[in-house]
Amino acid sequence: ARLVVLVSGTGSNLAALLTACEEAAYGARVVGVVTDTECPAADLARSARLPVAVVPLTNGRDRAVRAAWDLDVAEAVGTHRPDLVVCAGFMRLLGPGFLDRFEGRVLNTHPSLLPAFPGAHAVRDALAAGARRTGATLFWVDEGVDTGAHVAQVEVPVLSDDDEASLTARVKAAETPQLIEHVGRLARQMAAGER
Ligand code: GRF
Repeated sequence: ARLVVLVSGTGSNLAALLTACEEAAYGARVVGVVTDTECPAADLARSARLPVAVVPLTNGRDRAVRAAWDLDVAEAVGTHRPDLVVCAGFMRLLGPGFLDRFEGRVLNTHPSLLPAFPGAHAVRDALAAGARRTGATLFWVDEGVDTGAHVAQVEVPVLSDDDEASLTARVKAAETPQLIEHVGRLARQMAAGER
């Protein structure tokens, strides 16, 4: 299966996907990376000799700008003819101009046990709420904010001396293997015509 990965951040999930894809039996390969911003993940993709498209969103509050950006992202992704689109630390919401073309093929990984703590600060919000457990959710992206159908969840404890960095690290340590497992499974099911 052909994967396009959307990133905005440090790229640890992208790095893990690239490693997994080195095994032919994994059943997927990354064919392109799209980002809204220059970031370590984009540099990682370039050093892996992958095509990287940077599609910045200049004024996300302006509806026309936003709608045009959705279409630009769709074009940057679509040029690679992906079977699956994986948001791996992509910090923008994808609107109808994108999802009309790709919905049902777009996965996101989010660092909480959704529906708890949606949004951009999930780990911080879980700590602030005094949650005793949190985790990560892999889900199909729809037009809501972290509302799509769940593919998998993994739980981790919140420890009494956690800060945002320690809890983020524990969540990621569980989140990344979950992402790798399920992207591979979905890719192989697609190849077998089961999806
Ligand atoms: C992940 O924890 C993801 O859930 C969140 O951002 C993080 C991405 O990290 N949305 P990385 O860029 O893959 O290192």
